[in-house]
Amino acid sequence: MKDKRVLVIGSGGRCHAIIDALSRSNRVGKIYCAPGNGGIASQAEILPVPVTDTAALADFAETNNIDMTIVGPEAALAAGIVDEFQNRGLRIFGPTMSATRIESSKEFAKKLMAKYGVPTGDYKVFSDFHQAREYVLSHSLPTVIKYDGLAAGKGVVVATTYEEAENALRDMLLDATFGDASVLIEEFLDGPEFSFMCLVNGHKVYPLATAQDHKRAYEGDKGPNTGGMGAYSPVPFVTPEIREYALKEIMQRTADAMCEEGVPFTGVLYGGLIQTVDGPKVIEFNARFGDPETEVVLPRLESDIYDLFEAVLDGKEFTTEWSDDATLGIVMAAEGYPGKYAKGMPIKGLDSTSATVYHMGTSVKDGEFQSAGGRVLMVVGRGETLAAAREKALAAIEHIEAPGLFYRRDIGHQSIKN
Ligand code: AMP
Ligand code: GLY
Repeated sequence: MKDKRVLVIGSGGRCHAIIDALSRSNRVGKIYCAPGNGGIASQAEILPVPVTDTAALADFAETNNIDMTIVGPEAALAAGIVDEFQNRGLRIFGPTMSATRIESSKEFAKKLMAKYGVPTGDYKVFSDFHQAREYVLSHSLPTVIKYDGLAAGKGVVVATTYEEAENALRDMLLDATFGDASVLIEEFLDGPEFSFMCLVNGHKVYPLATAQDHKRAYEGDKGPNTGGMGAYSPVPFVTPEIREYALKEIMQRTADAMCEEGVPFTGVLYGGLIQTVDGPKVIEFNARFGDPETEVVLPRLESDIYDLFEAVLDGKEFTTEWSDDATLGIVMAAEGYPGKYAKGMPIKGLDSTSATVYHMGTSVKDGEFQSAGGRVLMVVGRGETLAAAREKALAAIEHIEAPGLFYRRDIGHQSIKN
């Protein structure tokens, strides 16, 4: 029976993909989204409430008999939305504020991994610029410098010169542009990266399909780091053996460690992993669905997503069914992104595309879509192979009239041999 009422928190392509999956559920009758975006509005009823206004969101869930709330962005988790809902006896899918530290504090995550033997690179923490600089100068390059706080994907510098490293330390420790947190200086890990998301409730860990993100703005993995310019699923170099190892030695071990530390994790535990010559190692954990990975993983899910969320929250056993199809999504971003960019650019032709289009940052004006963010759309192609999926996505983009947006034609290049 389609009688469940759900609330999805967030506004990007990840939320749109979660809502799309919920719309395929045989249990879900009504979907609300706060604050959503122009495209999401066609699949969910929009509430104009910011993701960090946890009290207002809980009030809404209470008065509108919401059966389950699903959280997209880390900002809502870090604001304690899960604690607020749980205190009021409301069902919510996501980790508590304390468990969110696995993402919000890199030092917490690193200490946990060291204590429980989860494979990751060596690191050292600094709050003093001069000591950090000394340390970097006495070690080899490349070196990795990370700001230890939420920095929306901009807090990591992989420095290949000492000058670059010093500038990063200066920005993060001396300038006030960031906050006043410390930095981690990390061993550089080499290899292809992949994203491994698992649904977790305490000791129970259920893997989702693997995906790979593309962080750099331009083709050939050039240019500045972004929130992600495209993704695909599955990832062929992640063999069943690698996946098993990552599940057991990284994801399960980490979930167990969180229980052991008194901060059991519920929700999506996202492992940002790198396949080194010594096997997969952790680059970072996130406490939520990945963006843009979710946009390519969930379309391949054949199980009812509401059933999955419910089973996880109830601690029940379940299995997940996946399509053998490959999916590949290409982000269309505003020219200038991740730097300065214009908003309000017209978008036409979305009705005539054959691919799935998730809206990352759009609004509607006079009945027409327009851009409302740096990343604007994610066009997801699907096919028997990744190459076919990419062809579909590229062909679909041809039908979209969006002057002022750019995209990468090479998404999937690590796995598609031309
Ligand atoms: P993060 O925000 O921690 O995911 O880092 C952003 C990107 O920086 C990652 O996706 C990697 O490409 C790169 N990176 C982070 N840490 C390391 C590391 N220890 N070794 C190599 N590359 C890294
Ligand atoms: N795709 C990386 C992230 O969600 O943080």
